[in-house]
Formats: sequence, C-alpha cells, structure tokens
Amino acid sequence: MDFFDVLQKRFSVRSYKKEPVEQEKLNKILEAAQLAPTACNLQSFKIIVAKTDGRRELFKKIYHRPWFSEAPYVLGVCALTDKCWVRSDQKSYADVDAAIVMDHIILAATALGLGTCWIGAFDPEAVKEAFELEDGIEPIAFTPLGYPNENYVKRKRKPLEELVIFK
Ligand SMILES: Cc1cc2nc3c(=O)[nH]c(=O)nc-3n(C[C@H](O)[C@H](O)[C@H](O)COP(=O)(O)O)c2cc1C
Repeated sequence: MDFFDVLQKRFSVRSYKKEPVEQEKLNKILEAAQLAPTACNLQSFKIIVAKTDGRRELFKKIYHRPWFSEAPYVLGVCALTDKCWVRSDQKSYADVDAAIVMDHIILAATALGLGTCWIGAFDPEAVKEAFELEDGIEPIAFTPLGYPNENYVKRKRKPLEELVIFK
C-alpha cells in the first residue's frame, strides 16, 4: 500500500474480529517498531505483546471498554525512563520516543490490513501489576491489534490554516 494511502486508511478501530493475526504480520509490525527513530538512538523502550485469549478480566482492569480485548493481541509501548535522552533543560524525551514507536506500529498494521486504536486512558497501575513491570518501565500507550469489524470512519480534522503557522 502506498504510504499516503496508509495515512488515509488508518482510523481508530473500536470493533474487532476474532480472526487470528498471522505471525508473519506481527513480526513485520515489530520490525517497523524497531525502525522508529529515537532521541540519540537510545531505543529506550519495550514493547509488550500480549495475547488476549482467556484474559478478558485482566484487560478490563487495564482499560474498561469491552472491545479493548476483542482482537487477538494487545500491544503496549513502555518508556525506559532512566535510560532515555534528557535535554539540557531536563525535558525528558521518553514519551516522544514511545509515541513514535507506537505510530510506527499503528501505520505498519494499517498497511497490512489490520486495525488498531491508540489507548492513552488506561490504568497504569493495573498495567504494572498485570505485566509485573519493574520501576523505570513506564507504560505510555496501548492498542488492540486485529482485523477490523467495522468500516472506515473518517473523522474531522481542523483546516490546515488553523494548524500551520507559516513564518
Ligand atoms: C495519544 C492518544 C491517546 C488516545 N487515547 C484513546 C483512548 O484512551 N481511548 C480511545 O477510544 N481512543 C483514544 N485515542 C484515539 C483518538 O480518539 C482518535 O485518534 C481521534 O479521535 C481521531 O480519530 P481517528 O484515529 O479515527 O482518526 C487516542 C489517540 C491518541 C493519539
């Protein structure tokens, strides 16, 4: 799929089929994540790949929407907060790096015909408990990963004049 078609086709999928995700596709998505640029190339992140089968209650604690665990997988990107790049004014780039990684995952999944939905409103304590995350591993974003059970929904965007400042 052409890159600009991928951008057009991506949308937040909130209904998934049970249909399995091929291992080859999962590998490609993880390789796309590996290619993400990170500040100083520190790659201070971990990706959680969790199967949802038989774990509905666990996923409900993390994010309450039933569709969150409908797809075969949930993927999460965590920042290694002690290992990431920090600018001279102490601004940490942990979240920025993790967001880029998640965007690579989401766009790669779209290119492969799979659906995703950024989840930021999860319970971080429930995540730490469920996946036994050590200190310094901070979950930043999650997404289900599976075949969409709904058609493309085009959401409104502000006009470019409102978003861009030409100087
Ligand atoms: C950082 C971030 C956090 C988000 N968190 C959630 C969330 O917790 N739950 C949810 O249903 N959608 C979440 N979304 C999806 C947005 O609502 C969605 O991207 C936006 O409405 C635009 O729709 P589209 O993705 O279909 O283009 C999040 C998106 C981003 C980028």
